[in-house]
Amino acid sequence: MTEEQLLDSAEVVSRHRAALQPHLAESLACLPDLPRFLAPEFVLWAREFAGLPAELDAPLTETARAIAGHAGLRGLIWHQSRLLYDHLDHPTDACGGWPTFEHVLGDQAGLYYLILCFEVLPRMVERHRERGIPESVSRACCTHFRESLRLYGLTRGGALGVSPRVLFWLRNHLAGRLITLGRFEYMVRPFTDRARVFRRRADGAVVALDRGGQWFNAHGYLDAGATSGWQSVYQETESAWTGTPLHPAGHALPDPVSLAKAEWDLALAPGEPILEVHIPAGGQMTLDRALDSMRQAPPFFRRHFADQPFRGFGTFSWILDPEIPVWYGPETNMAQWERELYLFPYPSSGRDGLYFVFGEAPIDPPNLPRDTSLRRAVLDRLAAGGGIRAGGMFVLLDELDALGTQPYRRIWPF
Ligand SMILES: CC(C)(COP(=O)(O)OP(=O)(O)OC[C@H]1O[C@@H](n2cnc3c(N)ncnc32)[C@H](O)[C@@H]1OP(=O)(O)O)[C@@H](O)C(=O)NCCC(=O)NCCS
Repeated sequence: MTEEQLLDSAEVVSRHRAALQPHLAESLACLPDLPRFLAPEFVLWAREFAGLPAELDAPLTETARAIAGHAGLRGLIWHQSRLLYDHLDHPTDACGGWPTFEHVLGDQAGLYYLILCFEVLPRMVERHRERGIPESVSRACCTHFRESLRLYGLTRGGALGVSPRVLFWLRNHLAGRLITLGRFEYMVRPFTDRARVFRRRADGAVVALDRGGQWFNAHGYLDAGATSGWQSVYQETESAWTGTPLHPAGHALPDPVSLAKAEWDLALAPGEPILEVHIPAGGQMTLDRALDSMRQAPPFFRRHFADQPFRGFGTFSWILDPEIPVWYGPETNMAQWERELYLFPYPSSGRDGLYFVFGEAPIDPPNLPRDTSLRRAVLDRLAAGGGIRAGGMFVLLDELDALGTQPYRRIWPF
């Protein structure tokens, strides 16, 4: 079969063809009779390993059989597996726009990409084994599968499957670097270049300075694409770091401060490794569970990723919106966690996180469900003209034991 014949046979329409062209001839040249991830026993193993419900077994094996029996789809899914898992220099941004195959697979078309996702599992387990990570942890690292199914069904009347937009994240599983420990997931990644973090020797006070040149609004937040407001500053001289301070409650303060090198140390610089925190779905993110997870992470990574030292924790997310205490409540789980962290501004469209709360349909507030307190709070916030904004956070390793006492808000020096 030629490349064109394969794309014709899978009925890939012309707008999708360019994205699927790289390495296609090579994939065709090594196409096996049955890629391992289409074998029924593999699909059943992967479903169980990922902790997905057994009701999926019949539709999954049926779909795998249908793909295996269709020359175009069999060739294409093999090629996609190679782009995703073998050609690591192939960028994943295009995967989100890969075609779907309702015309061949009908209601079960969404399972095509779930089956493609499954191929990452034996590879992840292998990477974990090399690092001495027990199988129970590998199994726990499968939250992405459950969450992707949930988000897919949410806006498709409960249909089974996953959307191609979730495929890019599998490169983290592939590398074996994304590890679930209790409530959260972690991987060693570089700290953002948005903040520099300093600690005062005398009393341990911690202050983050903005990178400078950013347009802040009147509340000290960053609106995506803004070119007006007030602009942050940053300068390092021989004796001091001077710049726009970022208050740990998540906003910038307009008056620059100067941190004398004789009194302050640089505690975390842009690009330095941190444990990047990710928050799988499932609610119940109580402060105890959040902190318990954060305390598990450093010893685990020191044991299994000894080659990857780190200086703290960091991430950005809609659940770090510094206004959550206002629009959802000061005693909600998210607000309680926020108070323990050093929050800092992150550019936001004001519509962050809606995907995680409502799924991937275009956002149409009047018709969205109001069945949980979170959904009602988000919709009321939008209806009142407010936004849901992403925020950033960090915690330095030195403050790990102080979590639970709001270490950054307790000792704020300005
Ligand atoms: C972030 C998150 C873990 C916070 O959970 P939490 O505040 O501890 O949630 P709780 O268990 O206290 O539940 C509070 C309410 O929110 C609801 N809720 C929780 N997660 C929800 C979600 N993803 N979508 C809709 N409602 C949700 C609960 O049903 C509950 O409603 P109720 O008060 O009417 O009973 C949760 O919102 C979630 O699972 N989100 C999806 C994953 C996510 O957004 N990750 C970050 C990606 S950057």
